[in-house]
Amino acid sequence: MQRANHAMSYDSLFQDSLSHDSLSHRKGFQETARPFIYDQAEGLRRMTQNDLNQSRPVRVIAVSSGKGGVGKTNVSVNLAMSLAATGQKVMIMDADLGLANIDVLLGLHPKLNISHVLSGDYDLSEVIVDAPGGVKIIPAASGVSRMASLSAAENAGIINAFGELQNELDVLIIDTAAGIDKSVVSFCRASQEVIVVVCDEPSSITDAYALIKVLNKEQGINRFRILANMAHDMKEGRDLFGKILKVTDRFLDVSLDFLGAIPFDIYLRKAVKKQTAVSQTYPRSPSAQAFSMAAQKINKWPMPKRAGGHLEFFVERLINSN
Ligand SMILES: Nc1ncnc2c1ncn2[C@@H]1O[C@H](COP(=O)(O)OP(=O)(O)O)[C@@H](O)[C@H]1O
Ligand SMILES: [Mg+2]
Repeated sequence: MQRANHAMSYDSLFQDSLSHDSLSHRKGFQETARPFIYDQAEGLRRMTQNDLNQSRPVRVIAVSSGKGGVGKTNVSVNLAMSLAATGQKVMIMDADLGLANIDVLLGLHPKLNISHVLSGDYDLSEVIVDAPGGVKIIPAASGVSRMASLSAAENAGIINAFGELQNELDVLIIDTAAGIDKSVVSFCRASQEVIVVVCDEPSSITDAYALIKVLNKEQGINRFRILANMAHDMKEGRDLFGKILKVTDRFLDVSLDFLGAIPFDIYLRKAVKKQTAVSQTYPRSPSAQAFSMAAQKINKWPMPKRAGGHLEFFVERLINSN
């Protein structure tokens, strides 16, 4: 759709340019015609860049968890910054719509957020804000209770709105709400990868299992990446992964992959207090280094080859890239 429009406007502009050019020659209007032709060339260059952006697949990763407070927002932000540090163009959508917190975590004060897109007053591109490290953020609406329970159509509206973005982008990270809320499930379904953040507490593990089960049975998602957070060491993280794997292997037909363990880190807490990301403020801290290792792993994940046939983020770019 998007591509067809571009092709059409490209052609018609080209036609216009030719006819205008010949007209200016005939009537001796070269002087006044020049800036016009220059603008067109500029426009054509922009379109070519947009076309290139549109044909570059975007890796879309949902960061989810069974229960709140396990570190999803910190994981989203620090993975984003670590990926950006490897040269990727990264954007985060704050989809914890009931309780926005990426802007709080990073000390940003956005004037606009996703609710302004839903109301139809702004385009998605107008609400994007710049965060440190070159990461772009789409802020969630804070304190608007309606946002906590979006209708299916509103969810689909947000997912489709990404199709209009002309930005150069390699990775989109969705910081979802905790649990199995309708909007969480639909954002996970519309992503290509789902990271489940867990920490070593019985409720975190059982809730993570419940989330995986719902996403698998109801949405057909069968691959999950497990990230153990607040682990004391790598072994504890691996053991935690082992515990989840044991139950999923027994009851579900899913493939689970261990993305890594982020240690419990006092520097992360210090960074949160300063309203900064630990990867930015304390890049040599244990957690920042673990985020960086996880980002390197993510860079090695295979890119999706084709559209899944359901509602997906950036489905146009996936189709155009083939
Ligand atoms: N690796 C970690 N080490 C120490 N504290 C952490 C770590 N990850 C998260 N936290 C703490 O947990 C709190 C909740 O994290 P947050 O990312 O907001 O969770 P969620 O988005 O899942 O609700 C943070 O304010 C931070 O203090
Ligand atoms: Mg959060």
